[in-house]
Amino acid sequence: MLLPRLRSSLIVALPVLRALAGQIPVVDGVIGGVSQSPNPAEQPKLLSVAATTPGKLRVVENSGVCETTPGVYQASGYGDLTATESIWFWFFASRKNPDTAPLALWFNGGPGSSSMIGLVQEHGPCRITNDSSGVTLNPYSWNNEVNMLYIDQPVGVGFSHGDLNVGTSQQAAADVWKFMQIFFSDSRFAKYQKNKLAIWTESYGGHYGPTFAAYFLAQNAAIAAGTVQGLNLNLQVLGVGDGLTDPLAQYPGYIIYAGSNPYHPLVSSSVISRANSSWNASGGCKAQITACYDGGSNSVCSSAQSYCNNNILSPLAGNWDVYYVPTANPDPYPPDISNYLASVASTIGAESTWQMTNNNVYSNFAATGDWMRNSRPDLETVINAGVRTIVFDGDADYILNFNGVEAMVDQLNTNFSSLYKQQQFATYNVAGQRAGQYKNAGTFSYIRIYGAGHEVPAYKFGTLATGQAAAQMFTQIMADQPLSST
Ligand SMILES: *[C@@H]1O[C@H](CO)[C@@H](O)[C@H](O)[C@H]1NC(C)=O
Ligand SMILES: *[C@@H]1O[C@H](CO)[C@@H](O)[C@H](O)[C@H]1NC(C)=O
Ligand SMILES: *[C@@H]1O[C@H](CO)[C@@H](O)[C@H](O)[C@H]1NC(C)=O
Ligand SMILES: *[C@@H]1O[C@H](CO)[C@@H](O)[C@H](O)[C@H]1NC(C)=O
Repeated sequence: MLLPRLRSSLIVALPVLRALAGQIPVVDGVIGGVSQSPNPAEQPKLLSVAATTPGKLRVVENSGVCETTPGVYQASGYGDLTATESIWFWFFASRKNPDTAPLALWFNGGPGSSSMIGLVQEHGPCRITNDSSGVTLNPYSWNNEVNMLYIDQPVGVGFSHGDLNVGTSQQAAADVWKFMQIFFSDSRFAKYQKNKLAIWTESYGGHYGPTFAAYFLAQNAAIAAGTVQGLNLNLQVLGVGDGLTDPLAQYPGYIIYAGSNPYHPLVSSSVISRANSSWNASGGCKAQITACYDGGSNSVCSSAQSYCNNNILSPLAGNWDVYYVPTANPDPYPPDISNYLASVASTIGAESTWQMTNNNVYSNFAATGDWMRNSRPDLETVINAGVRTIVFDGDADYILNFNGVEAMVDQLNTNFSSLYKQQQFATYNVAGQRAGQYKNAGTFSYIRIYGAGHEVPAYKFGTLATGQAAAQMFTQIMADQPLSST
């Protein structure tokens, strides 16, 4: 989800402010647009910064914030990549058997969006209340059985601060790998290095997840070959929710979903046929993404992002919330978390003013056209390497809708793809109730979750509780089991 905080220059530039809860910036009125003028430098305001410790962590232990279950360890702070690049993290030990439980990393998308979104709005130990005044303990927290590590990246995002050197998913992967080296070198966290490691991510995480996972595996191989020095990362699971992975496969999904989805059409048929022509036209969206894939330069890919989001993604949203289409734009849910995070910042050791999305980081990615590059080959590499992988999608999300994500999954070319194509969808039951539809093939699974918007664990369906279906999915996959009904 992707929306910048209001700032005066932006209000002028934006005729319509979309989706309050958004993770993806709106640029000159276009969701995921590309600015035609350079962004003014906009650094998050620093509160007070302690001396950085390059190559080491700075940690506040057991702040008492968010996780209030007695005896559950937590820690928050910074991993300093260099003296001027500090990555924010917040670690919650598993509520059960932390020493042997797996460790899962969580990344929100943007690019430029903070992973505190996932922590406080989706699946952390606490969740924001609907009036944004505080938090309540989350019984479906993902740290029920897994150690959770929430990371704000790249540098500049959320509570992270410092030099903005990252403008591609590949560069982001290298910094996250470096952060993990620092994390496991710390005596408090070294014991988790041998445990099963997982990457879970959402939205722009459709790029981040496959790229980070493939990079971790490549670094492990280089360490084994003696060409890189470092600690092995025991990656065994990848989860990608509502992700942008393969734009060429996924953009037709906007045209299909806008016309027909489980809720209501989003726009009139004339808007849909205009977008349809923009897709197929000579020099249109399809041709531009194809040129980007075909060794396209940064400017070719960046132009494709601008053209496709101007002519397809943005206009087809109509007046509905792009992250949850049953509701008119903007949906006030999930509730705003900025005041809450500001109120706890100094207690947890945070050193900058939190922002949901850093627009400068977003612009750095928009300038390279990273958005329109294809992360499906990395996803295929990771699946074939035997990393248990799940792709999931909420059926009420437009911005990364299930039509696009399922088209991407259908185009995967892995050891399990032919088995996947032979399957029919099965109903996913949670506590005896319908909650979605899924397929398993080998160590790959896909599920469409009913009633869920972009931030899948923030929603509920039928009489199930908020986050209950997502928690069952997470628990099964983390236990190295295929999805199954209960
Ligand atoms: C908060 O708002 C959401 C969306 O309207 C609703 O589904 C949920 O039940 C509300 N939560 C509480 C505790 O009232
Ligand atoms: C786009 O237009 C073509 C030709 O009219 C039609 O076959 C196709 O179904 C349209 N696609 C969508 C998603 O409406
Ligand atoms: C666009 O191309 C698809 C095949 O790629 C075709 O099925 C569809 O009819 C085309 N739409 C238009 C409007 O020409
Ligand atoms: C996929 O197939 C390749 C080639 O046979 C093999 O090396 C690899 O181990 C297989 N991966 C999995 C997860 O089965």
